[in-house]
Amino acid sequence: MYSITKGDTVKALILAGGFATRLRPLSCTRPKTLFPLVNKPLLQWIFERLADNGVDEVVMAVNALTQFYIRQQKPPKCGLKVRFSIDPPKMPLGTAGPIKKAEKLLGHNEPFIVLNGDIFADINYKKLLRTHTETNALATIALCTLEDPSAFGVADVCNGNQIKQFIEKPPKNEAPSNLINAGAYVLSPKVFEYIPEGRAVSIEREVFPKLAAESRLSGFRMEGLWMDIGKPQEYLDANKTILDSISSKLKKPKSKKINISLPVAIDKGVTIAEGSTIGPYAIIGKNVKVGKNVQICDSVVFPDVEIGDDTTISGVIVGEGARIGKNVKLGKGCIIGDLVKVKDNVGIHESSSVCPAKEISENILKPKVVC
Ligand code: GDD
Ligand code: MG
Repeated sequence: MYSITKGDTVKALILAGGFATRLRPLSCTRPKTLFPLVNKPLLQWIFERLADNGVDEVVMAVNALTQFYIRQQKPPKCGLKVRFSIDPPKMPLGTAGPIKKAEKLLGHNEPFIVLNGDIFADINYKKLLRTHTETNALATIALCTLEDPSAFGVADVCNGNQIKQFIEKPPKNEAPSNLINAGAYVLSPKVFEYIPEGRAVSIEREVFPKLAAESRLSGFRMEGLWMDIGKPQEYLDANKTILDSISSKLKKPKSKKINISLPVAIDKGVTIAEGSTIGPYAIIGKNVKVGKNVQICDSVVFPDVEIGDDTTISGVIVGEGARIGKNVKLGKGCIIGDLVKVKDNVGIHESSSVCPAKEISENILKPKVVC
C-alpha cells in the first residue's frame, strides 16, 4: 500500500485526445478541453482545481493537433509543471493506452490522478487521493449520481466503497446503479501491468472490469458540481450553471445606454452600442463588438465576434471571429462555426448549424446543417 507524504510530487494525467463529434462544428477548430466556460477554457478550470488540490505536475495525453491548439492558446498553467505525451500519428490509444505510454513520465513511486479533459467537476482531489491510499484498491474512481447513467461508465458498489462490477455504457434500464464514473480516478502504478502496450486500450472496458473482478476497484462519492459538456445543449447549460455559481463575484457593467439583465459575463475589450439588451445568461468573449439595439440572451459568444445593429441572438453558440450582420435573427439551438459570415437581414432557423468560415446570405427556413 502507498501513502502520500509531504514532499512527494503529486502527478495528474489529463486525457484530452478524443474527437468531440457531438460538438461539431465548433469542435472542428478546437478540442473540447479548450471550449470556453464563462470565458475561461475548460482546461484552465481543471488546472486551477488541480493546483488548489496540491498537484505539482500534469501530463497532457493528447494527439498532435490538440497539442498544437493548447500550445497556441496557452491557458495559464497555474504553477503546474505541464508536459505533453502524444499518441502516435493516426493511432489514437483510447483511454488506457495513453496512460501506458506516459508510464515513464508518471513513474512508479506514487499513485497518480487521471482525468478526462472534457468534464467540469468540483472534485476534492486531495480527498480522492487519501481515500485511495486507505484501501488496497489499485484504482479509485470518483463517482457521481445521475438519473440516467446509460451514456456513462456505471459502478455497482458493495461493502461500503468497493466496486464489484463496472459496466461502460450499459443498455438503457440495465444499469446496476445510478453511480457513474465522473471521469476522474486515482491509479496505483501497478495498473501499468494491466495495460497492453502499443495498441488502443479502453480503461473502462478492459481494465476496470478486471480490477473489479479481483476486488481491487474502489469508489469515492464526490459532492458538488459535475458537468459533461458533450452536447451543445449541455455546453450551454454548463455555462449557465457556472455563471449562476460565480455571478455574485462578477462586476455589473455600468452604462445608462445599454440594458443589462443579470447574470451576464462580459470579457475584456468588449464594446456594446446604445439600446442593446444583454442577458440574462449572455456570456460574451474578449473583444466582441456589439452594435446598436442588439439583443443577446441564453447564449455564448466566443471572442472576436462582430454583431451588427438590430440583431437578435437567443439560445445560440457563436464561434470565434464570426461576423453577424445587421438585423439578423439567430434561432434557439443554432451553432455558428468560427469565422462564419452571416449577411444583413438573414434569419437562421432554430437548431441549424453552420460550419467554419461559411457565408450565409439567404434565410434558412428549416433546421439545416450548412457545410
Ligand atoms: N490521448 C487520448 N487518446 N485521449 C483520448 C482518446 C485517445 O485515443 N480517446 C478519448 N480520449 C479522451 C477524451 O478526449 C476524453 O477527455 C476522455 O479521454 C474520455 O473519452 P470520451 O470519448 O469523452 O469518453 P466518454 O465521454 O464517452 O466516456 C468517458 O467519460 C465518462 C464521464 O464523462 C468514460 O470514462 C465514462 O466511463 C465516464 O462516465
Ligand atoms: Mg466524454
